[in-house]
Amino acid sequence: MIGWYRLLIRLPGVVLEDLWVLPDYIGKGVGKKLFEHAIGQAKQSGAERLELDADPNAEPFYTKMGCRVVGESISEWGRAIPHMIYDL
Ligand SMILES: CC(C)(COP(=O)(O)OP(=O)(O)OC[C@H]1O[C@@H](n2cnc3c(N)ncnc32)[C@H](O)[C@@H]1OP(=O)(O)O)[C@@H](O)C(=O)NCCC(=O)NCCS
Repeated sequence: MIGWYRLLIRLPGVVLEDLWVLPDYIGKGVGKKLFEHAIGQAKQSGAERLELDADPNAEPFYTKMGCRVVGESISEWGRAIPHMIYDL
């Protein structure tokens, strides 16, 4: 396994909880494939939107995938992180 994601079905939305790629495979298109797979699963579930709390370093990746920042969430370590949405 070189990467994974976790999708929580919370209709009318879904929550992308994790999306990780092993360091040796970062920047090779794996994250994009996983994100697109998650979007397919979210659409199949009948959801209207996909939501996620992005690691600040990953925000440009999610923006490139078509997500937009709609607010901030507080991480488990107490720091503000971007809350993002992808309209399905
Ligand atoms: C963020 C992460 C999932 C992206 O996966 P990846 O496999 O490296 O991304 P890809 O190679 O599929 O990149 C897809 C596109 O996004 C762009 N991109 C990826 N990371 C980027 C970044 N940090 N800044 C700007 N663009 C980025 C790529 O250039 C690529 O663009 P292209 O389609 O025009 O070529 C991966 O880097 C990762 O696991 N990082 C560490 C953990 C992490 O932060 N996870 C997110 C938790 S919320």
